[in-house]
Amino acid sequence: EKGTYPHFMLKEIDEQPFVIRKIIQEYQDKNDTIKLDNDIRKAMQKADRIYIIAAGTSYHAGLVGKQFIERLANIPVEVHIASEFSYNMPLLSENPLFIFISQSGETADSRSVLVQTKALGHPALTLTNVPGSTLSREADYTLHLHAGPEIAVASTKAYTAQIAVLAILAVDSARAKGINLSFDPLQELAIVSSAMETLTDQKEEFERIAKDMFETTRNAFFIGRGVDYFVVQEAALKLKEISYIQAEGFAGGELKHGTIALIEDGTPVIAISTQENVNLSIRGNVQEVAARGANTCVVSMKGFENDSDQFVLPQVHELLTPLVSVIPMQLLAYYAALHRDCDVDKPRNLAKSVTVE
Ligand code: M6R
Repeated sequence: EKGTYPHFMLKEIDEQPFVIRKIIQEYQDKNDTIKLDNDIRKAMQKADRIYIIAAGTSYHAGLVGKQFIERLANIPVEVHIASEFSYNMPLLSENPLFIFISQSGETADSRSVLVQTKALGHPALTLTNVPGSTLSREADYTLHLHAGPEIAVASTKAYTAQIAVLAILAVDSARAKGINLSFDPLQELAIVSSAMETLTDQKEEFERIAKDMFETTRNAFFIGRGVDYFVVQEAALKLKEISYIQAEGFAGGELKHGTIALIEDGTPVIAISTQENVNLSIRGNVQEVAARGANTCVVSMKGFENDSDQFVLPQVHELLTPLVSVIPMQLLAYYAALHRDCDVDKPRNLAKSVTVE
């Protein structure tokens, strides 16, 4: 039930800090270490390469997950859009592990890959919010997202839950391999959860920015580099699907290779900058588009902020920034849709789970 909320989407955005806390609880054992099924741990240890398969928002979470698993657990990872997998079947390693990420666990495109890879005899792990779902039942292992039912078509809390669980999985695999990490995901997620709360408490701010940037525009660009590039892709999808504004998420450095031609007076360009190593270059990109008349908005992170930034995010561990930077993006999309009188929870032409290929 929506309770006092006007839309499920807003309720689900607000639930994210609690979902993160729930995940910490569910994945923490008595000694404050990670609680994970031993068979999953073994499957991760055996894998010489991981293939993440997903669609839409879950695919965007997979892009972030690849970074965790490669950087922390030192296992190579490829992320594939489920519907493209069979046309561009990659060369498989000797001991692959397939990870399916799916809020609903019912996405037909992902299931069709699972059917293929199972037939080849490869092990599969599903990360899902619905444990009894098809992808969960048909895979060898399941990790539960514990996000609670997600009703709005636009996925919000499932995305952050997927990223949190992927971080825990990556650290567990690293530890199982004897890799010594200073990063404690459970502690860092607790910090994230509080940071998320401060963001969901500042809705008027995002409502104001959304009005300024999106009320009448026909298109919008989101730019980022590194992990921020993954988040801007999700930001664009969110805006597109509920406000019907044509939006794209670009790598900041790619703009000058073509897209910058689209920038006109007033074109909205939203940049995310959460990482020290990209901060200067993404700000350079913002200047380039501003010089061509773009209506720019920078969402930065405490520690690397400028006075002119429209919004400064509370600082969290550099690996976990997508969990906080996505929240303004979800809220911007929400208010854009609201101001344009769109059906926020049930956008046209879309279904909550896509059960046809
Ligand atoms: O249930 P799934 O996570 O497998 O769904 C995948 C996509 O259909 C889904 O994320 C879709 O892109 C959302 N509507 C995005 O908000």
